[in-house]
Amino acid sequence: MTANDTTSRDGRDERAARLLAGRIRYGGDYNPEQWPREVWREDVRLMVEAGVNLATVGVFSWAQLEPEEGRYDFDWLKEVLDLLGEAGIGVDLSTPTASPPPWLATRYPETLPVDAQGNRYHHGSRQHFCVHSPVYLRAALRIVEKLVEEVGGHEAIELWHVHNEYACHVPYCYCDETARAFRSWLEKRYGSLDALNDAWGTAFWSQRYASFAEVIPPRMTPTFANPGQELDFHRFSSDAFLDEMCAERAILRAARPDLAVTTNFMGAFKPLDYFTWARELDVVSTDNYQDPGDPDAPMRSALHYDLVRSLDKSAPWIVMEQSSSRVNWRAHNAAKLPGAMRAYSYQAVARGADGVLFFQWRASRAGAEKFHSAMVSHAGEASPVFAEVSGLGQELARLGSLYGARVEASVALLASWPNWWAMEALAKPANDLTMVDQVEWMYRPLYQRGVTVDVCRPDEPLGAYDVLLVPSLYLLTEAEGANVVAHVEAGGTAVISFWSGIVDERDQVYLGPYGGPIRALFGCDVLEVAPLPAGEGLRLDWADGTSSTAGFWLDVARATDGQVLASVADGPWAGRPAVVESRRGAGRVVYVATRLDDAGLARVYDRVPALAPEPGVTAAGPGVERVVRRSASASFEILVNHSGEQRTVPVAPGGLELTTDRATGDSLVLGPRGVAVVRRDASR
Ligand code: GLA
Repeated sequence: MTANDTTSRDGRDERAARLLAGRIRYGGDYNPEQWPREVWREDVRLMVEAGVNLATVGVFSWAQLEPEEGRYDFDWLKEVLDLLGEAGIGVDLSTPTASPPPWLATRYPETLPVDAQGNRYHHGSRQHFCVHSPVYLRAALRIVEKLVEEVGGHEAIELWHVHNEYACHVPYCYCDETARAFRSWLEKRYGSLDALNDAWGTAFWSQRYASFAEVIPPRMTPTFANPGQELDFHRFSSDAFLDEMCAERAILRAARPDLAVTTNFMGAFKPLDYFTWARELDVVSTDNYQDPGDPDAPMRSALHYDLVRSLDKSAPWIVMEQSSSRVNWRAHNAAKLPGAMRAYSYQAVARGADGVLFFQWRASRAGAEKFHSAMVSHAGEASPVFAEVSGLGQELARLGSLYGARVEASVALLASWPNWWAMEALAKPANDLTMVDQVEWMYRPLYQRGVTVDVCRPDEPLGAYDVLLVPSLYLLTEAEGANVVAHVEAGGTAVISFWSGIVDERDQVYLGPYGGPIRALFGCDVLEVAPLPAGEGLRLDWADGTSSTAGFWLDVARATDGQVLASVADGPWAGRPAVVESRRGAGRVVYVATRLDDAGLARVYDRVPALAPEPGVTAAGPGVERVVRRSASASFEILVNHSGEQRTVPVAPGGLELTTDRATGDSLVLGPRGVAVVRRDASR
C-alpha cells in the first residue's frame, strides 16, 4: 500500500518547479486518436499560434494502445509525442485507466462495478470499473507499465497525469470484491469485531455483527442504513481510489523520478477526501465547470479555486480543465459570454494557479462530447473562441514571474470530508442542510468584500490566520476541537455556526449541551435544535437597537457567560440568544445559532477587523474581485471584473500592469469582463 507514503514528497518542489517555474502552463486535453494524421500537423501549427505549451495526451486511449489483451500499439502515440516535442510543446502524459477497453469488460465482467441495488454497469461509456477488482487492477497497472516502457523516456513528457477524475461517475461499488476489501479495511481500522460494533452502535435495530464475514457495503436496505457503516464506506472508498492512484504513481515515478505527478480533481467533490489526496501529488490540479448562467458562478468559481489552492498549502496547482465556452452535459448549456473565459482564467491565476488548461483542444466530430466547446471549434480557426483562446495564450506568456508568488489570506474556513459525509447522511433534524450551502452562506459575503479565504482542515496548523470560520462542523474530533480552542486562546477569532461539534469521528453524539470539544467556546448552552418550518423566518433584535431576520434553523440555547449580541424578537422562541460573543484566553468567539440574513451576517463580520471590506473592491462596485499574490521580489494585485459594465478600481500608484505593459496611476479602468495584473517590485 503506497498511500500516505511521506517519501513521495521528497523532491517534490524540484519536480514542480521543473514543470512550472518561469511560465504559466497553457493548453488542454489533446485527443489525436480521434483524428486522421493530417489533422495532427494542423493541430501543432495552431497550438503554437495559440501559445499552447502543455498538451494532455492519452487520457482515454487504452483501447487504442491495447486493442486486444496483450497486443499493443504505441506507434501512433510516439508519432504524436515527436510532433509535439519538435514544436516545443510539453506533454502531460496520462495513464489511460479511466476507461477500460471493451475487451476487459467482455472477457472479465467481474471488473464492472455494481450499484447499491445489485445492478451491474456495462461498458460503452467510461469509468466502468470496480477499483477493488484484482483483475481490473492487474490490467490497469500492466498498461501503465507498458506505457512507461514504450514512451516513458520521451523528452516531450513534462508531467504525468494519472487516470482522469477519479470516482467521477461511479464513486461507489457494492460488488462482492468490494465487500471483501471493505471487511479487510475495517479489520485494520478497528482490530476487533467488538470495536467495530461499538463504533457503529450496532446495539441499535439488532445490527450486532457476530463475524466480519457478515459485514457488507451499505447496499439497498428497507430504510436508513447504519450511519457509522456509511461513514466508513465513504472513507474506505476514497482510500481505495487513492491506493490505486498511488500504485500507478509508483510505476511512473520509478521510471521518471524527475517528472511531477498529478491527477485532476473536481473541486468540492464529495466522494474523495482531497485533503488526503493532495499530499500524494507534486502538483494539484482541478477541473472547473461553473454554469455561466448561474449569477453566483464567479463566487462559486472563486471558492473552488480557494479550496484547491488550500488542499496542500505547500503544493502548487493548476487548472487542468475548464471550458472555452459551453459544456454539453447540463440540461441547457449557456455559453460563456465574450471575455468571460479570459476573466475566469485570470480568476484562477489570481487565486494561485500556475497553469490554465482546457477540455479539450479540438472539438470532437463524434461521440458524447461533440457539442462540448473546445479551443478549436468545429468551425476551426474562424471561430471567435479560437481568437480568444490564442489571445489569452499570448497574454499569459507575459506572466511567468508569478511563479512562487503566494496568495495572501488571513482567514481560514474550516472544512473536512468526514464532516461532509457525516452531516449529509440521512435521518438528521434537517436533511436539507448541506455542507456546500453552509460554506457558501459564510463565504459569499467575504467574496463580495474582497476578503481572501483559505480552506483549512480543522486539525492543521492555524497560527497563520487571524480568523477561523466554522460553518457547521457537525463532525469534529476531540483533536480538531482542541486545535480550534487553542487558536482562539492564543488570540484568534472564531465565527462558529450552529450544528457544530455534534458528533465524534464515529458519528456518535457528544452528550450534554451540544458542541462537544468546542462547547466551551460558545458562551451559551445549546440545549435543543429547532429546524424552522419551511419559509418561516425569525426576527432578531440586536443589542445595538437594530434588527434583522434569520431562518432555516435555531439552536435553542441558554446564554451562559457570553454577551448576547442578538436574540429572537418574538414568537415561540422570543428571547432565545441568536448571536453570542465571548472572550476566551486572548481571543474571541462569535457563536451564530441561526442562519442570519445578509445584513445579520454583515453585522457579525463587521465586528472582526480581518473581515473588513477591501476598500478598492467596495469602491469599484459589484462584480469586481481582487486578490494579491506576493513573492520575495514582487507583489501582484490581480483584478477581475465579472460584470458586464465598466468598473473603475482605485489602486496604489507605481505599479506595472502586465497585460498591457503600462505603468499604473491611482486607478484602473476595467472594461466589461476586463482584467488587470499589477506588479509592484518589493523595493517600491
Ligand atoms: C470532465 C472530463 C473530461 C470531459 C469534461 C467535459 O472534466 O475529465 O474528459 O468529459 O468533463 O466537461
